[in-house]
Amino acid sequence: SILILDFGSQYSHLIVRRCREFNVYCEMLPCTQKLADLKWKPKGIILSGSPFSVYEKDAPRVDPAVYDAGVPVLGICYGLQETANHFGARVEASDHREYGEAIIKVLVQPPEAPAHLNKLFEGLPAESPVWMSHSDRLHSLPENFTTVATTESAPFAAIAHNEKPIYGIQFHPEVTHSLRGKDVLRRFVINICGCEQGWTMESFIDKEIERIRTLVGPKGQVIGAVSGGVDSSVAAKLMHEAIGDRFHAIMVDNGVLRLNEAQQVHKMLCEDLGVNLTVVDASDLFLGKLKGVTDPEQKRKIIGNTFIEVFEEKATEIEQQVKEAGGDYGEIEWLLQGTLYPDVIESISFKGPSATIKTHHNVGGLLDDMKLKLIEPLRELFKDEVRALGRLLKIPEHLVGRHPFPGPGLAIRILGEVTREQVRIAQQADYIFIDEIRKAGLYDQISQAFCALLPVRAVGVQGDRRTYEQVICLRAVKTEDFMTADWFDFPPAVLRKMSNRITNEVQGVNRVVMDITSKPPGTVEWL
Ligand code: XMP
Repeated sequence: SILILDFGSQYSHLIVRRCREFNVYCEMLPCTQKLADLKWKPKGIILSGSPFSVYEKDAPRVDPAVYDAGVPVLGICYGLQETANHFGARVEASDHREYGEAIIKVLVQPPEAPAHLNKLFEGLPAESPVWMSHSDRLHSLPENFTTVATTESAPFAAIAHNEKPIYGIQFHPEVTHSLRGKDVLRRFVINICGCEQGWTMESFIDKEIERIRTLVGPKGQVIGAVSGGVDSSVAAKLMHEAIGDRFHAIMVDNGVLRLNEAQQVHKMLCEDLGVNLTVVDASDLFLGKLKGVTDPEQKRKIIGNTFIEVFEEKATEIEQQVKEAGGDYGEIEWLLQGTLYPDVIESISFKGPSATIKTHHNVGGLLDDMKLKLIEPLRELFKDEVRALGRLLKIPEHLVGRHPFPGPGLAIRILGEVTREQVRIAQQADYIFIDEIRKAGLYDQISQAFCALLPVRAVGVQGDRRTYEQVICLRAVKTEDFMTADWFDFPPAVLRKMSNRITNEVQGVNRVVMDITSKPPGTVEWL
């Protein structure tokens, strides 16, 4: 496996992605990690880029032990400069910053040159586009190194140590703009480090089930919330595979879920997949607390706090039942959480020497109050890997590929006060919208779609009567990461069908409009 030391580059997590695509296990740790404290032995080490400049006062330093560990090292961008710096070369601010595409030229080494010098670019084209993003560059070659590739403005675009498998590259092979970047990484990870390509989802399931069983012990109990989303469903099913009914799932119906959501999740997770699930209908409690509330942040707070309250109450009840059951059951000690790798990366990535490390879990309240320990079986996975895992666990496709749904649910899609009647309208409209999206075969092309209910009264005519009813706004976006998003362009015939159905079938709506705002300046949600 590969150790990636993160110096804070915006691209660091992509190095992890690429290694995973080779089915190679890798772990990313902050650059402050001392090699001596590592409990496993990597087969190779990759040093990431960084927003720092090597000579800056607070610049992060690489643990020199990296170069004596007897394993191959690849420095990327800052990682190259830090390597060169370690071996005594000078780094300087480049006369012009270099951002964007450059053409890399691989140099032909003389026949008597050590074979490993050629290995990073072996079999690759002599010239190909790469992605540059740096303002420093190497001024001179460190002693005992050879230049293996250049670009027009970076004479030492790729270097290699003459005796040891230590490499440095100025460009970013991890981004897709570097056409053959993935191949360069593959040369390093597979050919140079000799990593095994055995990290598959099947092997992950087996290993993770074993890990859960060992962690929890033969009588241990785990409790966790499910929402109907991909992550919590996959995590729940995995727990069920590992410890059966000693995993207790709780679904809280907060009254602002999608139409028939609680029933559907119960059918799928409990009846079809066998997960030990309790659904708590707390809609009266939630809607009672939301009465008269229009401020979105207030809505979020109420829903979050009430969720903790209801979950704790139900958990205590289940704990009591477990105690009474005796026999094979120990105490409930663990709380399941569907944390994914991007959250973990966010919490461990290097943000500079003075930055404090942020904790990522959002159930802090539960952990403290209930004295539970956290169990996070998905913490090594990216979203698409969770989906692949879900498929292997036989979770139905329509759930595995589901769009995300916010915790505060329809409460942030109903503008103004949330009442049962408003929830009914929002649920029915949303159901039709998604139904038509699926029928048109567009669901998988869209990242998120929903209806917002705008509590304005518009005039209309239905039958022979004038009506003053509310407005449904259709929102559908495409996005990679939800930080930026673009609105989705529906074919007119599909829009016509949606609009017809919503105004005909949902009482209380006489107009359908569409949100054609990207993010920024808009956000995905309306509140
Ligand atoms: P925005 O509206 O910020 O949404 O562009 C980006 C993504 O975040 C989701 N979202 C939330 N999810 N609790 C959640 O669990 C929230 O309060 C919340 N607000 C927004 C939103 O659905 C979209 O996927």
